Amino acid sequence: MARVANLPGLGKWFRLAVCLGAVAFMAIPSMQAVAGVDLPKLEHGKGDKCVDEEDYIRRNHPDLLKHHRDDTLRKGIRTTKYSLRKCVECHAGSKTGSVASSKEDFCVACHSYAGVKLDCWDCHATKPGKRPVNQTAQPSLSPLMPSHGGSQ
Ligand code: HEC
Ligand code: HEC
Ligand code: HEC
Repeated sequence: MARVANLPGLGKWFRLAVCLGAVAFMAIPSMQAVAGVDLPKLEHGKGDKCVDEEDYIRRNHPDLLKHHRDDTLRKGIRTTKYSLRKCVECHAGSKTGSVASSKEDFCVACHSYAGVKLDCWDCHATKPGKRPVNQTAQPSLSPLMPSHGGSQ
């Protein structure tokens, strides 16, 4: 990149590209935007509270779920606080009984708004009471398995 910028005449274009890049980056909805007034209407979860403060889980669930998942698979640790199965139990929609079958279902409602797409449901059940993980889609349960699902 820097080398391109040093070519005579290209510096201007390079700066323009950087600017456009910055604009595109800002256009990605942030957690703040998602937590703001434009949030799609979400069905209320079961019980009276979430596994954590609402604000905290709203902001941190991507990392919480992913760390928890990595701990489970790589180190064999299995805590239940941030279990995906539990999220599904409490957040399955009343119409579909699922967190991710229709556009109104809890996880999808917010993610489609935020432009997030999960591959978790390839293996994990979106409805409570089902086998938590679709073992047939699962190549191996080895702790050496590289990061399953999301690439981040
Ligand atoms: C014991 C039931 C229960 C469990 C388990 C649970 N939640 Fe919740 N969750 C709730 C309730 C109740 C609320 C607050 C009311 C609401 O907005 O649904 C809530 C709120 C939320 C919110 C904020 C929604 C908003 O309106 O902005 C998110 C995001 C969320 N939960 C994600 C999760 C995730 C991810 C998991 C799994 C790690 C999970 N929840 C597990 C019951 C639960
Ligand atoms: C290729 C199949 C596959 C995909 C895709 C996948 N998982 Fe998993 N996941 C598993 C298996 C297998 C286990 C271990 C079995 C168990 O713990 O029930 C597991 C366990 C977990 C656990 C711990 C158990 C639980 O219910 O809490 C969490 C959390 C989890 N995964 C989150 C995710 C998230 C989040 C995604 C998407 C970003 C995802 N997984 C994508 C197969 C997958
Ligand atoms: C209040 C809005 C909201 C709700 C409700 C919500 N999410 Fe999210 N989720 C987001 C946003 C925004 C991101 C992207 C955050 C980022 O990239 O920093 C995200 C990202 C994720 C990621 C990480 C994806 C990746 O590949 O990096 C996982 C896993 C996830 N959500 C799981 C869930 C599950 C499971 C539910 C339902 C129980 C849920 N989310 C409900 C807003 C929400």
